[in-house]
Amino acid sequence: MELIAKGAESNLYKDGEILIKERIKKEYRISEIDEKLRKKRTLGESKILKKLKNEKVNVPDIVKVDEQNFKIFMKFIDGNLMKDIDVENDKDKDDLTGIAKQLGRQIAKMHCLNVTHNDLTTSNIIISNGNDEENKEKKVYIIDFGLSFTSQRDEDKATDLVVLEHSLNATGFGFLFEDVITGYKEEYEKTELSQKAAQIFKRFKAVKKRVRYFEEETEKTEKIEENV
Ligand SMILES: Nc1ncnc2c1ncn2[C@@H]1O[C@H](COP(=O)(O)OP(=O)(O)O)[C@@H](O)[C@H]1O
Ligand SMILES: [Mg+2]
Repeated sequence: MELIAKGAESNLYKDGEILIKERIKKEYRISEIDEKLRKKRTLGESKILKKLKNEKVNVPDIVKVDEQNFKIFMKFIDGNLMKDIDVENDKDKDDLTGIAKQLGRQIAKMHCLNVTHNDLTTSNIIISNGNDEENKEKKVYIIDFGLSFTSQRDEDKATDLVVLEHSLNATGFGFLFEDVITGYKEEYEKTELSQKAAQIFKRFKAVKKRVRYFEEETEKTEKIEENV
């Protein structure tokens, strides 16, 4: 078993084709609360993963949940985190548009089920290699539902998109956001919620305005503070 990543709250191990996500103890929390929280998050994440998998969203398959030891056992996805893809030197640059649309469709599928991811960054998106026998095409997977929740609100879905756009910009993929939205709308149009994507996108613009306003105000305040 090999430790492959250390997150803010968990250690991630690879054991053959299995990925084990273990939520670790936080010393600053009172033991009782710490255990309750880790159990709750382990269960919460696994429930959402199961729900999404059942509805054919590309997320890791759950193998087993060991609630007592705060562990989720899931299939290891062979691929790259989106943030690690080398945009400049990627030979398959043409593929990126396809990947972005696929990403948009996956997010729409998730949102149609009223799941808000709540940490939708390029560190939580894996592009599979597409070189295994069954899967010859690159597939986009969404991972890390540790902060996710279910919600009917457009606002929460819009916020996922704002976070994603921000992260795409920060990791050199800003030019793909339009394709993501194209895929997102296409997927919604297949459902009886065909008007919904436009509504969410409208809300997306409103949320962005608010964020920008907030940032400008913070900047002003900081300037004033610097000058006094
Ligand atoms: N199913 C998986 N297959 C392959 N790698 C994974 C899988 N799940 C997590 N990882 C790797 O572990 C890292 C951390 O996992 P993640 O669920 O995002 O935990 P955290 O909540 O700590 O961010 C990911 O960025 C990814 O590199
Ligand atoms: Mg993560």
